[in-house]
Amino acid sequence: MRAAYIERPGPAGDIRHGELPAPRPGPTDVLVDVLATTVNHVDTFVRSGAFPTPLPLPFVVGRDLVGRVAAAGPGAPGFAVGDLVWCNSLGYDGRQGSAAEQAVVPVDRLYRLPGGVDPGVAVTMVHPAATAYLALFVHGRLRPGQTVVVAGGAGNVGAALVTLAATAGARVVATASARDAGHCRRIGAAEVLDYRDPDLTDRLRSACPDGIDLHLDTSGRNELEPLVDLLALRGRIVLLAGARSRPVLPAGALYMHDRGIVGFVISHATTAELAEAAGAVNRLLAAGRLAPREVVPMPLSALAEAHQMIERGELRGRRVVITP
Ligand SMILES: NC(=O)c1ccc[n+]([C@@H]2O[C@H](COP(=O)([O-])OP(=O)(O)OC[C@H]3O[C@@H](n4cnc5c(N)ncnc54)[C@H](OP(=O)(O)O)[C@@H]3O)[C@@H](O)[C@H]2O)c1
Repeated sequence: MRAAYIERPGPAGDIRHGELPAPRPGPTDVLVDVLATTVNHVDTFVRSGAFPTPLPLPFVVGRDLVGRVAAAGPGAPGFAVGDLVWCNSLGYDGRQGSAAEQAVVPVDRLYRLPGGVDPGVAVTMVHPAATAYLALFVHGRLRPGQTVVVAGGAGNVGAALVTLAATAGARVVATASARDAGHCRRIGAAEVLDYRDPDLTDRLRSACPDGIDLHLDTSGRNELEPLVDLLALRGRIVLLAGARSRPVLPAGALYMHDRGIVGFVISHATTAELAEAAGAVNRLLAAGRLAPREVVPMPLSALAEAHQMIERGELRGRRVVITP
């Protein structure tokens, strides 16, 4: 089968495109014909070795797929040949990835695609939307009626955070470039603030008079010093981006108000957490509430270029769709 793979962790230019032996499913696996895959920031971290994780070599890159069941092992009940399915947890922790004509998916990591949902749309959303679900509800413990601030609300993860939080009945305040304010409002933000405004801290304070219950910054700036003061009693910050940021932390303002900061990466989510997130993602996909703003179609042979584009910051708010 054709695949995009690496021989060892390294730069994007080392991704090769060529023939590899077709994967063989075990008894509790499902063999999937891949219809679409995509590229996420985390794929570049795994490929480069920045996120250390066991990788079989040669390693097929890629985390997400939408595809059709080609064969199901005897210990993988519930899936039949031809079913439309998706997965968003391949390509790390010893598992081969999704950027190939076929992939093997453990049955507890495979979900049905709801009827009528375009595979090309779904593949762009399953990583950002599952990330948003876990960040908001598992790690952020968001409740209806609470105030959540999404910094970078027009980005891929940011837009999913805005959509999921608003759908759950939270009041969403987003920050974004001024040109993206309308988009953030359309997907559910009650207020949108220009992140380049020099008075952003004051504007956030006015927009959240009772304090921020949950704050998530997808831009990875993580400027905690002004932010901690804006949190409500027991307000929380979920850190999910900006691996190299070194923020100043006002300790007293944090602990004297029972405020908290927690880090989160989806790569450590359990299969039960991923399945819970998948249920929420499927409901929103079926309702037409999740869609990318702009798609960049690319062939499998261009995967190295797709990794370079995301590393150069050229895919902000845009999603690559690769059809092997
Ligand atoms: N922890 C996890 O499990 C997890 C999972 C998925 C992704 N992530 C991380 O999430 C981050 C975002 O991914 P993405 O795909 O959503 O990227 P993206 O589409 O590029 O979104 C980033 C957004 O941040 C905005 N932005 C830039 N500077 C800002 C600032 N100072 N204040 C507020 N917003 C600002 C950008 O707006 P402009 O383009 O207008 O400047 C853009 O809309 C990445 O670092 C990724 O690694 C983490």
